[in-house]
Amino acid sequence: MPQNTQAPVLVTGATGYVAGWLVKRLLEEGHTVHATVRQPDRQEKRAHLDELGEKLPGTLKIFQADLLQEGSFARAMEGCSVVFHTASPFTLNVEDPQKELIDPAVKGTENVLQQAQKTPGVERVVLTSSCAAIYTDASDTQQAPEGGLTEAHWNETASLEYQPYSYSKTLAERRAWEIADDQEQWDLVTINPSFVLGPALQQGEVTSESYNVLRQLGDGTMKQGVPRMGIGLVDVRDVAEAHYRAAFKPAAQGRYITSAHNTDFLEIAQQLLPRYGDQYPLPRKALPKWLLLLIGPLVDKAFSRKMIRRNVNVPFRVNNQKITQELDLKFRPMRETVEDSFQYMIDRGFFTRAS
Ligand SMILES: NC(=O)c1ccc[n+]([C@@H]2O[C@H](COP(=O)([O-])OP(=O)(O)OC[C@H]3O[C@@H](n4cnc5c(N)ncnc54)[C@H](OP(=O)(O)O)[C@@H]3O)[C@@H](O)[C@H]2O)c1
Repeated sequence: MPQNTQAPVLVTGATGYVAGWLVKRLLEEGHTVHATVRQPDRQEKRAHLDELGEKLPGTLKIFQADLLQEGSFARAMEGCSVVFHTASPFTLNVEDPQKELIDPAVKGTENVLQQAQKTPGVERVVLTSSCAAIYTDASDTQQAPEGGLTEAHWNETASLEYQPYSYSKTLAERRAWEIADDQEQWDLVTINPSFVLGPALQQGEVTSESYNVLRQLGDGTMKQGVPRMGIGLVDVRDVAEAHYRAAFKPAAQGRYITSAHNTDFLEIAQQLLPRYGDQYPLPRKALPKWLLLLIGPLVDKAFSRKMIRRNVNVPFRVNNQKITQELDLKFRPMRETVEDSFQYMIDRGFFTRAS
């Protein structure tokens, strides 16, 4: 645990969906937060952060930094005892995965962690990794021991061609451990969330892929049925809490699977039916796998036959015991997470088409 809990802390990618809640949590506790953003001039991206800085007891200082610019994080990291590295592109539909995903994820991690090596006073780095660095497909979790995949597992099936986002997160986390093992000044703890949902703090557009999925459940795109894909789900507020505890709990060490529920998209959609089923064209049943195999690849290139075979109607299983025991983290119920996300989207006018 960092000895100097009074020193400022750094949060990279502070404009992000996950990072917003982490900044809020830190400011609530009175920390001085050095928040890096790529384009500080874009008011709509940072307005919620400025508001938190004004309202909450801690102090917020915004710095400009880009993952791909060497030395970019030096000024923001100065004097910090904890570095939370959350910035990394989270998008599934890309033209050039090397340029759009792998480079910013891996070079960004190198850039931030190598800067931590040069910055006296840094005692702990908390990296936002992902369950995507543990598995690619729900079928990978089927081969796991009873209780599901654990922190001992690494993703060995993603590639530049197949699930490049998962590949980017795997390469970035592996690189982070290499850099961490090469020095003794700070220790590394990784938070590995599954699919994150829950309300956002942003006032403008939310870039996280999390919202694209939920949007399709509510806008009628999946009215005829939803692919019953096995996934893990966790609330964004619990992910922020996990980061906080990873930084300040003495017992925190290694990787943490941060996933509350082993579930699938049909079960997620069903959480919404009691409250929203009459007003929104929500899916009520699963699409047959044979139909998805037939039309999936035509509708979306990320929906390849291989991906459908390995994920649709395949239960997902990861084991979250390490974080619940070591960091004493309690997860929110699934209904609360899903309803709060959907209500946020309604309030922000995400759905133009209600049935
Ligand atoms: N959401 C999930 O389901 C989920 C699950 C597991 C792990 N994660 C991880 O959580 C972290 C945050 O994701 P999120 O869901 O909060 O997505 P997000 O809202 O899109 O946040 C991504 C952040 O990364 C920043 N970023 C991207 N490229 C950058 C670059 N070249 N230089 C500087 N900053 C850059 C973005 O800055 P701009 O605002 O300037 O674009 C943004 O602040 C990521 O590491 C992601 O892999 C997310």
